[in-house]
Amino acid sequence: MWCPKLGRALRESAFDHLAADLQERRAQHLYRVRKMLDSAQGPEIICDGKPYICFCSNDYLGLAQHPAIISAAKKAMDDYGFGSGASHLVIGHSRVHHELEEALADFTGRSRALLFSTGYMANMGAIRGLLGQNDVVIEDQLNHASLLDGGWLSRARFSRYQHASAAGLAAHLEGVDTQTSRTLVVTDGVFSMDGDLAPLSDLAELTQAQGAWLMVDDAHGFGVLGRQGRGAVDHFGLTQNDVPVLVGTFGKAFGTAGAFVAGSEMLIESLIQHARSYIYTTAMPPAVAAATRAALSVLESDEWRRDRLAQLIRQFRAGANALGLSVLPSETPIQPLMVGDAMKSLAISQALADEGLLIGAIRPPTVPKGTARLRITLSATHTETHVNRLLDALDKARKVFDLGS
Ligand SMILES: Cc1ncc(COP(=O)(O)O)c(C=O)c1O
Repeated sequence: MWCPKLGRALRESAFDHLAADLQERRAQHLYRVRKMLDSAQGPEIICDGKPYICFCSNDYLGLAQHPAIISAAKKAMDDYGFGSGASHLVIGHSRVHHELEEALADFTGRSRALLFSTGYMANMGAIRGLLGQNDVVIEDQLNHASLLDGGWLSRARFSRYQHASAAGLAAHLEGVDTQTSRTLVVTDGVFSMDGDLAPLSDLAELTQAQGAWLMVDDAHGFGVLGRQGRGAVDHFGLTQNDVPVLVGTFGKAFGTAGAFVAGSEMLIESLIQHARSYIYTTAMPPAVAAATRAALSVLESDEWRRDRLAQLIRQFRAGANALGLSVLPSETPIQPLMVGDAMKSLAISQALADEGLLIGAIRPPTVPKGTARLRITLSATHTETHVNRLLDALDKARKVFDLGS
């Protein structure tokens, strides 16, 4: 194209290909679009102006609209206003943030905990903060994107072992000199798109034997698994020595937002010095910290929410098995229905939406090619009737789309 101001033709730019890239994504049925929520989170929502039963939220315990959590946030807003004003290291670290860190250390049985504004930042910050060029990071191949990105960003030697395979990890650890290279093994506790658990006891044994550290991101286990919701690490009875770096997020079962890393005094002090996503960002609003503290109390005391969730998971799995549906083997609120083809997963998601049920079609690159799925999630606030509605709609879809095991 001629530019009269410069008096010459404009050079072609690699950005000119963005439109073609978008077109290509559309053609492959991988284009991502956002829905617009018009109500609070809950089992029954209004989305894009229409009512739905929601089976795609991570609000596993139904705390996102809990009155005690909302009133804790309001009280903190009265006391502190809304914005935190600065990073934790400048003047953004309020008493409310600090008390939440202490409560989380206590809850997880760790020496200390450190707040981050999001789980993505906690993972990036922890991995990058602990490792450098001469180090080694080994990750489960199905880890969450934030863990993989943290590994790549750290510039450490990066490799991935076969999903949930302790033997796979052992092979990767062989030959690593853990005396000269800090070696961090990183895994999800509960895998976000599959719902299964990492073999944490085996991973802990292997890493300890080799002088490596194990980092577990328990975003989907906290609140749901373990004693009073202490998570997957507690479910396996693992201590701070077994899992030196423990990550939890608040955007799921806690019903709020943000995250923490828990571990030894030395770990937390190191992250305060080196984790760039902790240092160079504004602290989460105090109201979010206060709401999360209230969520922690509810989550600890409301055992009925976990019991109810377990009951709904059993109901759903029994119903899905009776229909011959290929639901992945998961005992957690994440109950993915494997479809395979991206276009088909979108079509089923749309057919379910037409029946008033909202379930996301998860497609590559979020999951590996050929493994598109419907990520069904359950919450303690669903009812038996909601789950029956889901099973009925899946039965109908099964007949149209040839869905089976
Ligand atoms: C396993 C896992 N880790 C980390 C994150 C990121 O947490 P956040 O949403 O707080 O950034 C997510 C999802 O959001 C996740 O599924």
